[in-house]
Amino acid sequence: MNCLQSWPEPIVRVQSLSDSGIHVLPDRYIRHPSDRPSFTPISTHANIPVIDLHSLLAARDARLRQATLDRISGACREWGFFQVVNHGVRPELMKSIRQLWRDFFHLPLEAKQVYANSPATYEGYGSRLGVEKGAKLDWSDYFFLNYLPESARDENKWPTTPESCRELVHEYSKAVVELCGILMKILSVNLGLEGDHLQNAFGGDDVGACLRVNYYPKCPQPDLTLGISPHSDPGGMTILLPDDDVSGLQVRKGEHWVTVEPIPDALIVNLGDQIQVISNAIYKSVEHRVIVNSIKERVSLAYFYNPKGDLLIEPAKKLVSKDRPASYSAMTFDQYRLFIRQSGLWGKSQVESLKCSQ
Ligand code: OGA
Ligand code: NI
Repeated sequence: MNCLQSWPEPIVRVQSLSDSGIHVLPDRYIRHPSDRPSFTPISTHANIPVIDLHSLLAARDARLRQATLDRISGACREWGFFQVVNHGVRPELMKSIRQLWRDFFHLPLEAKQVYANSPATYEGYGSRLGVEKGAKLDWSDYFFLNYLPESARDENKWPTTPESCRELVHEYSKAVVELCGILMKILSVNLGLEGDHLQNAFGGDDVGACLRVNYYPKCPQPDLTLGISPHSDPGGMTILLPDDDVSGLQVRKGEHWVTVEPIPDALIVNLGDQIQVISNAIYKSVEHRVIVNSIKERVSLAYFYNPKGDLLIEPAKKLVSKDRPASYSAMTFDQYRLFIRQSGLWGKSQVESLKCSQ
């Protein structure tokens, strides 16, 4: 049997564990001491850059526009992460879609189980990534759905309750995909490539886009576990709509973790492994993780903008030279993703494994 058809052991919903009122974390969620939240120092001073996109989307002032492009370039090189404001996605839409998914996770367990997912496609209601038996588990549940390409979209797998779910997912997806298109142009130009380079490398109109809604229930012993293990996002670019009330996302900066403090109505942008490869490591997909707490649940929506699955992704020719040889060998995103779907998240080990030995 294909090892990706089913989970290796029965799925336990983290939300059910949390709701059961346990005071002691089950062993499956307890991390090795060196992987626990407090092991690596947390930097309290730094924060990821906040960038106002107004000058790119509306204003006509060329100097301001260039200054914004430069700030984005700096953020991509230095952090791989930034927050954007005035990004064109309506704040009311952001609020309603987050509330809608919060309501979904608050439905009775039976209502959600209808959407229980399998590792074959991951679409639906899930509680783990990877099929390795006995692996440590993250303290979160999620809902995963495909939006683009249209051929991969199956609305029958999207929730029917709350009632406006499908409609709002469409509306939010369109807005986020539009923002991604704009960011892809900006990143291309900033890299010294043609404006449509990244979009074309991703397959033009055939790009992939999928949504993972993360639900982090309250945790009785948050110091012993993680909401999501350290990882870099495997795809192209991620647009994260964080919880407006609870922080939890941490970004690696050298030897530290930096907790991202979301600002009102902002979206968080981060670069994935495929952009690291195409940019020949000028841009990095930065490692991040999520910590949980005992007081408040947290909901976030991660929108992944990915290359078409069967295209070879490799460093852009213009970014390869004698002084800067190609750092990675070519691979399709389908091949790349399969590895993660089997083994789960392991920091940056996967993109590192594509490195050419020189
Ligand atoms: C992810 C992710 C961060 C968060 O879904 O890949 O990194 O804050 N989520 O939920
Ligand atoms: Ni991520």
